[in-house]
Amino acid sequence: MSKIFITRKIDDAVIDELRKSFDVEVWDSEDQAVPRDVLLKQAKESHALFTMLSDQIDKELLSDAPHLKVVANMAVGYDNIDVQAAEKAGIIVTNTPDVLTDTTADLAFSLILATARRIPEAAGYIKEGNWTSWSPYLLAGRDVHHKTLGIIGMGKIGQAVAKRAAGFDMNILYHTRSRKTEAEEQFGAQYKSLSDLLEKSDFVLVLAPLTEETRGMIGAEQLRSMKDSAIFINVGRGPVVDEKALIDALKNGEIAGAGLDVFEKEPISKDHPLLSMKNVVAVPHIGSASTETRFIMMKLAADNIKAVLNGEKPLTKVSV
Ligand code: DGY
Repeated sequence: MSKIFITRKIDDAVIDELRKSFDVEVWDSEDQAVPRDVLLKQAKESHALFTMLSDQIDKELLSDAPHLKVVANMAVGYDNIDVQAAEKAGIIVTNTPDVLTDTTADLAFSLILATARRIPEAAGYIKEGNWTSWSPYLLAGRDVHHKTLGIIGMGKIGQAVAKRAAGFDMNILYHTRSRKTEAEEQFGAQYKSLSDLLEKSDFVLVLAPLTEETRGMIGAEQLRSMKDSAIFINVGRGPVVDEKALIDALKNGEIAGAGLDVFEKEPISKDHPLLSMKNVVAVPHIGSASTETRFIMMKLAADNIKAVLNGEKPLTKVSV
């Protein structure tokens, strides 16, 4: 019987379904990642790995996984996997695209609104009993409607954010590898060079995946070229941005605020300088975290494993 190792506690219904045909072992913790030595040992014995974006599936692991046929990542991003090494070893890699598009776009837009309108700060203010009188500029933030949104990485999630932004009468700019004519026609999005986008946007939203090309794409120079009233949002991957440069830009007033779902190193530590800044809204990589979507992602990852182990074509294969 083929063996599947699942690197985190997932929904029982998904595990039970897999157990009908396979030998399934689970790292049964919801909040602790599987230790590296356990992962390596399991990879050596398994035919399939059901992985999270926090698991490093690298050359070391792939070179000592003689039975491994498939790595099914429960995320649309797959920068945690050495896909090239997997392909070389004849191991299929799958991800969970499409099913999380709207949920992640909702989170991106929530971060835009929450940062601009200072929602976490205002919620803390009232809960701490600080509200003694109404006053004209009390917790006044910035408008979102009719402003300019610059989207870096106009894939499906980017286009779903553009759809939401069009409903807020925003002017939409984008920068990505290839022009997206549908987004231009449907939402009036305009393609710009990165430098143009950074200069003109009131909100800069990073949705780009992490690749050798995008690593460190937003550094000190790019942040400096943004408006000092601009808000920077990252729902792509942390290392796309030079975090130290971001901290400096926020400290020096080169930009007005940041809304962050992703970080250079995750989980971010409690005393990280970004977390003590009033103008930063930080959330722990929850882009696709709605219970409905997470369940669908689990099912899709499981279906990919089932297909490969049954000798069929996977539903959502990743390739380099
Ligand atoms: C993913 O699935 O890669 C994204 O980070 C959504 O949270």
